Amino acid sequence: MKLWGGRFTEATHHLVETYTASISFDKRLAVADVTGSLAHVQMLASVGVLTNSEAETIQSGLQEIVEEIKTDNFPYRIEDEDIHMNIERRLTEKIGPLAGKLHTARSRNDQVALDMHLYMREVLQTILNELHLLMQALVTTAEEYLDVIFPGYTHLQRAQPVLFAHHLLAYFWMFQRDAHRFRDALKRTDCLPLGTGALAGTTFPVNRQQVAEILGFSTVYPNSMDAVSDRDYLLEFLSHASICMMHLSRLAEEMILWTSEEFGYIELADRYCTGSSMMPQKKNPDVPELVRGKTGRVYGHLIGLLTVLKGLPLAYNKDLQEDKEGIFDTIDTLIPALQLFTGIISTLSVRRDRLQKALSRDFSAATDVADELVRMGIPFRQAHALVGKWVQRALEQGLTLATLPLEEYQKDCPELDDRVFEWLDIRRVVEARTSYGGTATVAVKQQLLEAKATLQSF
Ligand code: ARG
Repeated sequence: MKLWGGRFTEATHHLVETYTASISFDKRLAVADVTGSLAHVQMLASVGVLTNSEAETIQSGLQEIVEEIKTDNFPYRIEDEDIHMNIERRLTEKIGPLAGKLHTARSRNDQVALDMHLYMREVLQTILNELHLLMQALVTTAEEYLDVIFPGYTHLQRAQPVLFAHHLLAYFWMFQRDAHRFRDALKRTDCLPLGTGALAGTTFPVNRQQVAEILGFSTVYPNSMDAVSDRDYLLEFLSHASICMMHLSRLAEEMILWTSEEFGYIELADRYCTGSSMMPQKKNPDVPELVRGKTGRVYGHLIGLLTVLKGLPLAYNKDLQEDKEGIFDTIDTLIPALQLFTGIISTLSVRRDRLQKALSRDFSAATDVADELVRMGIPFRQAHALVGKWVQRALEQGLTLATLPLEEYQKDCPELDDRVFEWLDIRRVVEARTSYGGTATVAVKQQLLEAKATLQSF
């Protein structure tokens, strides 16, 4: 007999039972569900809907159930459809028909909404902690390699050299914005939906404010229909998670490039790489590759839930049960990705020899030569054209700007002397960019101070 079976005259078709059941995934809400019920019972007793002794019996039964859940001894049953009815059924087995009073003034619609709010509140806190650790790792590694110069790219073509620390810190600020977004989402998650019944409120004298206080919610949904059908806070989570995965995926792509022999700029610790079953020489960046790949499923979950909600009439519809799997999968994708990247960033090593070689062969000081010509009084457009000509000449002769003989420069610019070779010094190029937010060591040190202050007030 189903908990809702009163008006039915035949048993549920077995396909309906499996198709509609959510217990296989919403069992993750078990502890949150009991937490919500404990608060609900306490409130019902204080407004006189339950006697104190009834409340105590129900609460001690629920406590036993928490133990069973935590020790993996709870008997989940698909016939009980979802976590809410599984727990009520189990409570009935423990304390008898009194268990039937637990659901007074409550519907599964406001109950599941409460469970998700409670669950997501913790998830958001966990993600904020993981983001903090990752940002800390970026700062530590940036400081460790503060002297290292790295090729900077636009269009994936060599552009201007930057400090490796500067490049890493660019990601620091992306994750800082992610943290802001997740923290902001907490505000909307911090709202109590319970006490709104199936959709219209309840005839019992519930004290929603009291339940909010017990559970630590700072606000209460002012509209019962909105309370049971709002999934905005989940959409926000999925959006923020998508953006965060996008950031991880960009970093992943760079790590994949940098570790390839063609670039050869960094090496990842063995413990974060995998090998090939056939090619003995391989050391593959599987983790960044998977993070890049798994970003797709997180975007998918965002679009999936947006689509579930589009055109959905008020109030509760079973469609809303479809919110959970995408959310859980997003959590299980994002959290380990953050943890793994923290480890990867903390243990990577920079191949200084390869970087030096790469930087000695390129033209990334060209802008600086043009800038110096401007300081000699030549208009920038003309300076740009001159340096462009020298680049072309060097390329034709298989040289670089540093190895192109001075006479070649002087053909077009007789007033030029040996100083041109100083301008080509890559360290000088980096250290000249002292503007706020620039890549010079002084500017990056300033940035590191700001990053650390951000971490401290996180
Ligand atoms: N398992 C359901 C869900 O996740 C719980 C709410 C069900 N309510 C209902 N009236 N069928 O959405």
